[in-house]
Amino acid sequence: MALEKFNDSFLRACRSEPVGRTPVWFMRQAGRSLPGYRALREKYDVLTLARTPELAAQVSMEPIGLLGVDAAILFADIMLLPLAMGVDLKIVDATGPVIEKPVVSMGDIEALASLDPAHVEYLAQTIKILRGELNVPLIGFSGAPFTLASYLIEGKPTRQWIKTKRFMMEQPVAWSRLMEKLSESIVVYLSTQIDAGAQAVQLFDSWVGCLSPSDYRAYVLPYVQRIFSALAGKKVPRIHFGTDTGAMLRDFADVDCEVIGLDWRVDIAQAKAAVGAKAVQGNLDPVVLLGDEKIIKENVDRIFTSLPSRNGFIFNLGHGVLPETNDTTLKKLVEYIHEK
Ligand code: CP3
Repeated sequence: MALEKFNDSFLRACRSEPVGRTPVWFMRQAGRSLPGYRALREKYDVLTLARTPELAAQVSMEPIGLLGVDAAILFADIMLLPLAMGVDLKIVDATGPVIEKPVVSMGDIEALASLDPAHVEYLAQTIKILRGELNVPLIGFSGAPFTLASYLIEGKPTRQWIKTKRFMMEQPVAWSRLMEKLSESIVVYLSTQIDAGAQAVQLFDSWVGCLSPSDYRAYVLPYVQRIFSALAGKKVPRIHFGTDTGAMLRDFADVDCEVIGLDWRVDIAQAKAAVGAKAVQGNLDPVVLLGDEKIIKENVDRIFTSLPSRNGFIFNLGHGVLPETNDTTLKKLVEYIHEK
């Protein structure tokens, strides 16, 4: 049972309230390179780990003690939602999600089941275990409709998203049906996590930056707006994250949420100006952490110097921790941020 005082600095920063120390956590801090996770992965695959509450909770807890971060993230994967909607998929080592029969037509979209919360009951159980153990807030998450659609249509990870963009432009009616179905299920998925005890939620639109700003507005933004608005009544901070979204930040500002996640391709002062009253989270290039202490401190200092105010800022990387990152580097970085 957690006896230490609850550390709410992350939640306060999400709401742009004053904080004693800048909160820090890392996207993809659970899993990846941590020793306890690697040991579990010798015995279980990722999906088994994520769907076994006691093990998933253990993976989410590991970075809290080891690194001293100010928030925990649920150990899950964005592909658990499509899996629960009946998509036949695998997570292949060193590749990522692979889908047996990618989406090519309206018929494939109509065949997707709407999410029944009973199919993700394991997540609610993991969240309940974690809330009994943690003294930092727990973040739930989902993939955003564009990023999920891109895996469903491409069938495997890609860097160009050609099939996805062609589908979007050439089959606009089917595309809107797909976005609608994914969005409805995302709302149920995130609501289930919040009702079980997640204290904040993050929508990962990892790949949406591949679109032009006008296509983003036409084909994606309305669905993202609907998702965030539907969660407003839940009263937990909502984080909207994407990479390569510098040209879309003003559109991101039009979404009803508390925090915008930034990658490293944007200047944090300019980004903060573009998103108005919302808090920002990011924006260190994960590659910096492969460098020495001098390189790391210079890059971290630059972020703090650019920031107009300490309020409404959550330190994070601009994207997930790279698997080759050293735990000691992460731990020292957390200490450095807390001393600033
Ligand atoms: O902090 C965490 O790691 C929490 C759990 C988490 C996982 N996936 C577990 C996982 C989170 C937050 C995710 C999100 C996720 N998954 C995203 C969005 C964030 C991002 O990185 O942009 C995306 C695009 C995915 C899809 C996915 N799952 C990919 C591309 C891969 C393979 C490459 C990789 O390592 O990220 C996965 C597998 C996966 N999901 C692993 C983990 C820990 C790696 C499994 C392993 O080899 O041990």
